[in-house]
Amino acid sequence: MGKIIAGKVSDITPGKMIKVAVDGREILVANIDGEFCAVDDTCTHSGASLSEGELNGNVVTCGWHKAEFDCKTGKLAKFPAKIRDLGSYKVSVESDNVFVEM
Ligand code: FES
Repeated sequence: MGKIIAGKVSDITPGKMIKVAVDGREILVANIDGEFCAVDDTCTHSGASLSEGELNGNVVTCGWHKAEFDCKTGKLAKFPAKIRDLGSYKVSVESDNVFVEM
């Protein structure tokens, strides 16, 4: 599919995460200490929007039942049950634009 613009660097400040829609998929884009990463926004447990949860360092915590995922890899970090990892996507920055590569 290629590169899709996710937003402006200046709008996704360190510690912030946003949700963007890319071709019908919802993707979470986060700025972790100046490094951007992108994973699926939909929690693999029951479908909550992870961008409405909390970001601490590189870990996003789901607002519904507190599953924790690593935003850099999409891997499940902590949850009592085994649930799927998130899809993770490459991110690039050109001038003031953040792109997600699908
Ligand atoms: S929907 Fe995310 S932990 Fe349940």
